[in-house]
Amino acid sequence: MERTYIMVKPDGVQRRLVGEIIRRFENRGLKLVGLKQLVPSRATAEAHYAVHAERPFFGELVDFVTSGPVVAMVWEGPDAIQLCRNMIGATKPVNATSGTIRGDYTCDMMLNLIHGSDAPETAADEIALWFKPEELL
Ligand code: TYD
Repeated sequence: MERTYIMVKPDGVQRRLVGEIIRRFENRGLKLVGLKQLVPSRATAEAHYAVHAERPFFGELVDFVTSGPVVAMVWEGPDAIQLCRNMIGATKPVNATSGTIRGDYTCDMMLNLIHGSDAPETAADEIALWFKPEELL
């Protein structure tokens, strides 16, 4: 069993896609072990995207993810990290195929609805950044 950090970004919340996104993960058979809605602080957003700190889009990315409520979640299941990445779809819109969350609902590189951890180390770091241990059931 593996755990992954999943976050519906502000555009996904504003577009009322939270239920649809949760439904997809539940239908797939994954287990929800943590869930909350919050407006991220700048410090949390910067820590979350620290790997991109030197990239030209970093400022815009932090502005975007702190612009409104997000829904932070932890999902559990076999190979949950890669499985969720496959369900989310590629970062580059042209590569996000139909049937994936991004492929079905967005063609914008930045306004791409959802984040999912990309590796076991980042999943552990992100879960610890966004959740207290007692918030995970
Ligand atoms: P990244 O972690 O590479 O993608 P993903 O969300 O698919 O794991 O990038 C983080 C976010 O930064 C991405 O969701 C959208 C934004 N971004 C850009 O706006 N431009 C870019 O060139 C890249 C690579 C990312």
